[in-house]
Amino acid sequence: MQYKRILLKLSGEALMGDRPYGIDPKRLAEYAKEIKEVVEKGIEVAIVIGGGNIFRGVAGASNGMDRVQGDHMGMLATVINGLALQSALEDEDVHTRLQTALEIKEVAEPYIKRKAIRHLEKGRVVIFGAGTGNPYFTTDTAAVLRAIEINADAILKGTRVDGVYNSDPEKNADAIKFATISFKDVISKGLKVMDMTAFTLSQENKLPIIIFDMNKKGNLIKLVSGEKIGTIIDN
Ligand code: GTP
Repeated sequence: MQYKRILLKLSGEALMGDRPYGIDPKRLAEYAKEIKEVVEKGIEVAIVIGGGNIFRGVAGASNGMDRVQGDHMGMLATVINGLALQSALEDEDVHTRLQTALEIKEVAEPYIKRKAIRHLEKGRVVIFGAGTGNPYFTTDTAAVLRAIEINADAILKGTRVDGVYNSDPEKNADAIKFATISFKDVISKGLKVMDMTAFTLSQENKLPIIIFDMNKKGNLIKLVSGEKIGTIIDN
């Protein structure tokens, strides 16, 4: 196996499947199956999930809502998604723990780094909810932060695009995908991978980022097995 401990970042919007909002149980079940395969290989898996399928703080702010208020709503949305993912994983008999950056003790454990690491060592999937617990930060930043804290080997960002391209592949048919690219080149070429807070945090802490298509069946297990899937961003 290529990695011993990974941080998987899933977008909230991907959970919608073909729906206009919310959670598609079919998509959730597919994700749970993909994650189970990886856990069964003995890889330690931590997960950060977004909340965009339910609420986005930035979108709220652009409609006149207070940004902090909006971000708090977004953080709670990630907890909802975390609970849904936990339930789907448990349906697959995967042991999980949900830890949240905001204390909602009746619902989930509070985030405690050492406890999270112990869970991972025991083969449990740890889902981190409520982002970083602070407004103005994205769930990508939360993913990088948690990955660094738990000493993950890499952050695997599942998207609907299968890697980093030299131009937008959804708009330009001639776009070329990078198999690997350095942090420096992503910045100098003006490519969009994550927001800059998340990206530079990853760069400064030498945490490789892998961008891949999570909706293609089997991609996750192939990736952790060492197959060249998606784009690796490294120093
Ligand atoms: P070990 O210490 O390795 O046995 O881990 P554990 O998670 O099984 O032990 P613990 O006794 O801490 O937790 C038992 C169950 O309670 C698990 O399902 C936890 O997720 C849950 N749990 C622990 N702390 C909290 C909390 O603060 N809030 C909520 N809602 N659940 C909690």
